[in-house]
Amino acid sequence: MNTLLAQVSDTHIRGPGQLAYGRLDTAPYLSVALGTLMRMPQKPDAVILTGDLTDFGSPREYAHLAELLACLEMPFYLMPGNHDDRENLRAAFSAHGYLGSTGFIQYVIQVRDLRIIAIDTTEPGQSSGRLCSSRLDWLRAELAAEPAVPTVIAMHHPPFKTLIEPMDEIGLLEGGDELESIIAAHPSVKRVICGHLHRTIYTGFAGTVASTAPSPAHQVALDFESGADSAWNLEPPGFHLHVWNSAGVLLTHAVPVGEFEGPYSFL
Ligand SMILES: [Fe+2]
Repeated sequence: MNTLLAQVSDTHIRGPGQLAYGRLDTAPYLSVALGTLMRMPQKPDAVILTGDLTDFGSPREYAHLAELLACLEMPFYLMPGNHDDRENLRAAFSAHGYLGSTGFIQYVIQVRDLRIIAIDTTEPGQSSGRLCSSRLDWLRAELAAEPAVPTVIAMHHPPFKTLIEPMDEIGLLEGGDELESIIAAHPSVKRVICGHLHRTIYTGFAGTVASTAPSPAHQVALDFESGADSAWNLEPPGFHLHVWNSAGVLLTHAVPVGEFEGPYSFL
C-alpha cells in the first residue's frame, strides 16, 4: 500500500479581501489548489503545509486560513514559516495538539508507513532561518529513537543554497552543516522537504534528496544574477505529492494546479 503525503507550501493567506504585496489575493489560489488535491484519483493520506501559512501571522489571517482548509477531508499538519507567528497559529488551531503550547513548533507524526519529523527553522522577527543546538538535539534524539522507520524531515527554510541571491540571503543561516551530519548518520531519512523558495528545486543533501515546493499562489522569480531583485511572479502554481511505495522507495510528483483539458486516452 502506498503512503501519499501532499506538501502545500507558502500559502501566504491574508485577511478576507486583503491583497498580498498590494496586488495578489492568495486565498482563491489556495482554494483552487485544494480543489485539485481533493479531485486526485488517489487522495493523499495527509497534507503538510511547510510554512508561510499567512502573510503577517495575524489572528485574522489564521482564521481565514482555517476557513479555507476546512474543505480538506484528510488530516493536515501546519508548520510555521518566517511570515508566521507561533502563538497566533496555535491559538487559531487549538485542536491541533501537535503544535504544542510553547516554544518551537516541531513534532513527529506517523502517516501510514511514513514518519514525518517537522523541525522549526524560524526566528521571530527575522526572515532568515536558524537551527540552534536545542532544535538539532531534539532532532537527533527523535531519529535515534526509531532508526528503522522511513522518515521525511520537513522544514521551512531549505538547508542548501539555491543560487537565487535574495532568497539565499534569508535562507538557513545557522545549523545547516550540523543538520547535514545528523541526517548523513541516519539512513532512515528518505527526504528533506522544504518551503520558502516558492519553486520546485531538488539537490543531493546528506546522502538523500532535499527539495523545495512551489506555492499554490505566487512563485519566486528564477534569476541567478548577483544583485537580482527580490521578486515574485505568477508562473503556474502547484504542490508536491510525496509517495512512499511498497517497494520502499520515496518518489515525488510535482502537481500543477489549475483546470486543464483532458485526460484524453492515448488509444
Ligand atoms: Fe513564502
